[in-house]
Amino acid sequence: MLHLEHSCLFFRSWLALTVSVLLDLKPSACRSLSGSRPNILLLMADDLGIGDVGCYGNDTIRTPNVDRLAADGVMLTQHIAAASVCTPSRAAFLTGRYPLRSGMVSSNGYRVLQWTGVSGGLPPNETTFAKILKDKGYATGLIGKWHLGLNCESSDDYCHHPLSHGFDHFYGMPFSMMGDCEPGEVSEKRAGLEHKLNVCSHVMALAAFTLTAGKLTRLVAGSWTLVICSAIVALLCLTTSHFMGALIVHADCFLMRNHAITEQPMSLQRTTALMLKEVSSFVKRNKQGPFLLFVSFLHVHTPLITTENFRGRSPHGLYGDNTEEMDWMVGQILDTLDTEGLTNSTLVYFTSDHGGSLEAQFGNHQYGGWNGIYKGGKGMGGWEGGIRVPGILRWPGVLPAGRLIHEPTSLMDVFPTVVQLGGGQVPHDRVIDGRDLLPLLLGTAQHSEHEFLMHYCESFLHAARWHQRNTGFSIIV
Ligand SMILES: *[C@@H]1O[C@H](CO)[C@@H](O)[C@H](O)[C@H]1NC(C)=O
Ligand SMILES: *[C@@H]1O[C@H](CO)[C@@H](O)[C@H](O)[C@H]1NC(C)=O
Ligand SMILES: *[C@@H]1O[C@H](CO)[C@@H](O)[C@H](O)[C@H]1NC(C)=O
Repeated sequence: MLHLEHSCLFFRSWLALTVSVLLDLKPSACRSLSGSRPNILLLMADDLGIGDVGCYGNDTIRTPNVDRLAADGVMLTQHIAAASVCTPSRAAFLTGRYPLRSGMVSSNGYRVLQWTGVSGGLPPNETTFAKILKDKGYATGLIGKWHLGLNCESSDDYCHHPLSHGFDHFYGMPFSMMGDCEPGEVSEKRAGLEHKLNVCSHVMALAAFTLTAGKLTRLVAGSWTLVICSAIVALLCLTTSHFMGALIVHADCFLMRNHAITEQPMSLQRTTALMLKEVSSFVKRNKQGPFLLFVSFLHVHTPLITTENFRGRSPHGLYGDNTEEMDWMVGQILDTLDTEGLTNSTLVYFTSDHGGSLEAQFGNHQYGGWNGIYKGGKGMGGWEGGIRVPGILRWPGVLPAGRLIHEPTSLMDVFPTVVQLGGGQVPHDRVIDGRDLLPLLLGTAQHSEHEFLMHYCESFLHAARWHQRNTGFSIIV
C-alpha cells in the first residue's frame, strides 16, 4: 500500500513535472514576445570580414565568444550590408533604409565622411530605431564609433550627434578609427594631403626662385611683392605639411561623452578598457530595463589598436590579434549580461558594417580582413565580399539555438525587428527597406520577404539579388 502510494506520488510528480516542462516551453516564447519587451544589445565590428570568424569557417583565428553566440542562437549566412563602406552602411542600419533615400551616399568618390568637422551627416529628419525605442521608454546608448556627422552650422549645434538621433547616452568617437590616429602607421588621409602640400611648396619655391633670378638678371619684369607672396605660400605649405599628422590626430581622433570632449587626442592604448567600462556601467545602470545598447567597436579597423595581452597571439599577425581581442571584448560584454542576470531577457545581435578590407596592407603584411570564398572586399559594392557579413542573433528561450538561415537578409532588417520588439511602430511616412526578421528567426516563415536586394556602389546600382517569392531560389545579376 505504502509502496503503491509512493509510486503514485512519484507518477503524479513526474506527470506534473512533464506537464510543467511542456507548458514552460511554449508559453516562455509567447510570454517574451507579447508581454515583457527584451533588452536589445547590438554589437557591430568595423571592417571585419565574414571569413575571419570561426563559426563562418575560419579554423585558425580564435573567436570562441562569437562562436558561442552562434551556437546559442541563430546564424544568418546571407546577411547583406546596404553599402560596402562605413558611413552609408551605418546610415542604412540605423534607419532601415537604403542610404540613397537619406542622401547618405556620394557620387564623387568621397564615399564616407572625411572629417569630423564637415557639415554633413545623418539628416535630422531621418528616424533611427533608437529614436523610436527611446519614445517607447527604452534607455538608449551608443558606445564606440559613430561616423555619421556631428555639427551643421556651428561647432556646437550637434545636429548630427548621436544624442540628436535618439540615443540618450553616447561615449566614443564621433568620427572613425583610422590609420592616421597612430602616427607612423598606415595612413588614409595624411599621406595624400602631405603630398599635395609638398607639391605646393616646391612649385611656389620654384616660382619665387625663378622670379628672383629673372629680376636680378633683368630678364623678367615684375614686382618684389610677387616674389615675397610666392615665398610665403611655399613656407606655409611646407609648415602645414610638417604638422599635418598632428593636425589630423587633433581634428579627428578624440573621444566624447555625450556633448563633452573627454580626450583629445585620445590615448589609443586606453580606449578598449574605457569602452568596456562604459558598457558595463551602462548595463548596470539600466538593468531594470528595458534598454537598447549599440556597441560599435573600433576594432578591427586600421591601425588595429591591440593591447599587450593580445599582441603576437594569433597566427595572422596584428590583424588576427586585433580580431581575437574584439572577440574577447564580445565575451566580456556577454559576461556582464550574465552577471547581471540579463542573458535571457536580452536579444543580442552581432555583425560587421561591411566586408574586410583587401587593400589594407602594411609593408607586405595583411592589415585588413578576409572574406572567405567571396570575391571583393570593403569598397567594392557589386561583389559579395564587400557586403556579405556575419549576422548572429541570440535570445535564449525564445530563439532556437544553433539554427542556420540561408535566406537573404539585410542589416536594414534590424530596424523593423527591434522597433516591433520594443513595442514601437515602423514609420509610415517613408519607405522602409528592412523587413522584420522575427518570423524567419522563429521558423514561422520559411522564406525571406526580400524579393530584391540592391547592391550599390556610391549612388550607382552595381548588382541586384533577386529572390523568388516563396522559394529558396536566388540569383544575383
Ligand atoms: C582566417 O583568417 C585569416 C585572417 O584574415 C586569413 O588569413 C585566413 O585565410 C582565414 N582562414 C580561413 C580558413 O578562412
Ligand atoms: C528630409 O528633408 C529633406 C530636405 O528637405 C527632404 O528632401 C527629405 O525628403 C526629408 N526626408 C524625410 C524622410 O522626410
Ligand atoms: C535561460 O534560458 C535557457 C534556455 O531556455 C534556460 O535553459 C535557462 O534556465 C534560463 N536561465 C534563467 C536564469 O532563467
